[in-house]
Amino acid sequence: MIKVAIMGYGTVGSGVYEVITTNQKSIDKKVGQELRIKYVLDLREFPGDPVMEVLTHDFEDIIQDEEIRIVAEVMGGLHPAYEFTKRCLEAGKSVCTSNKELVAQHGAELIQIAKDHQVNYLFEASVGGGIPIIRPLNSSLTADVILEISGILNGTTNYMLTKMDREGLDYMDVLKEAQDKGYAELHPEADVEGWDACRKIAILTSLASGNQVDFQDIYTEGITEITPEDFLYAKKMQRSIKLLAISRKVEDTYCVMVAPALIHREHPLYVVNDVFNAVFVKGNMLGNSMFYGSGAGKLPTASAVAGDMVDAARHLGKIIALFWEPQKLTLAPMEQMSRRFFVRMEADANPEALFGDGERVEAGVKGELGFVTPVMTEAEYAKKAKEAKIIHMIRVEG
Ligand code: HSE
Repeated sequence: MIKVAIMGYGTVGSGVYEVITTNQKSIDKKVGQELRIKYVLDLREFPGDPVMEVLTHDFEDIIQDEEIRIVAEVMGGLHPAYEFTKRCLEAGKSVCTSNKELVAQHGAELIQIAKDHQVNYLFEASVGGGIPIIRPLNSSLTADVILEISGILNGTTNYMLTKMDREGLDYMDVLKEAQDKGYAELHPEADVEGWDACRKIAILTSLASGNQVDFQDIYTEGITEITPEDFLYAKKMQRSIKLLAISRKVEDTYCVMVAPALIHREHPLYVVNDVFNAVFVKGNMLGNSMFYGSGAGKLPTASAVAGDMVDAARHLGKIIALFWEPQKLTLAPMEQMSRRFFVRMEADANPEALFGDGERVEAGVKGELGFVTPVMTEAEYAKKAKEAKIIHMIRVEG
């Protein structure tokens, strides 16, 4: 029998408990022996919940117990998750997590500590919730050079943008509704400012490149400036606006950014709506591939954590190879990236004189015009845009 512990009994932690207890028989078969929860760590009490039988308030119960071979870290945040994870790994316990903040910041270091102690640090749930993407990048696609990873990696903002697109609502109204429904948090900055998606694309690029990508180096723009007028123009262009995380190979490195983008209805990511996520991967041999599913939520995320626990149980005493070294990857400057830019300018502006031949977009918005520039680099765009009053700019993808 393999004994495991869960640290944190919040949304994801209670989900992991539910997955393991509901699917106990099937999990035991797949592991080849019984896998049982011995502790759940949380500071709170849960009267009437069966978890009380295994609840502890003391981390030392888990760390001192040699029977515990695998721990799910689903506490979130950097501290004390980092210290607890490190101690578990050093004590010879594998750790499985959904904590993207911790993985993005200390992933390479924790993988190394795990290796040094013949255990595993697994984090399938840290990107794309229940969508398998870490394992495919780490095993199925290892014969490819990854040329691009782009995706919709945040469910909250995708829900909000879908609503704005379908119902013509204001950003603030949609945010309030998303908060009322429990999709957006009371302090929604991590989602709406793009920081969550930024950490996720940093993790994916680290795995694609094999080196540490610091999320602080990634240009990140959120959705707070998107308006119903932007969607009127998008519709005229047969496009929608999505918060995209994009990572493209440039020579020996990657160029990475998170920003809202206008994507055409024929683009594979156009149909990814509501809280769903999708990750588009282009390999130099594979060509295109897309991973789609529930990017957030209790059970999808818990399913990925519990799946990692099964994998850790099947590999006791063996290291699951992960291609992510601590050496930092210097990202390509995003100023070199070329694309078209959609700009809204005052009605009497002359965008052709400024940007060259492009395409005007008429959406019936009073006092302004819409214009899609020709392809140019970010640096060229920034230089030209300084010379004019731009009401709003959104990048055009594809
Ligand atoms: N806040 C995240 C999202 C949760 O909305 O996608 C999953 O990481």
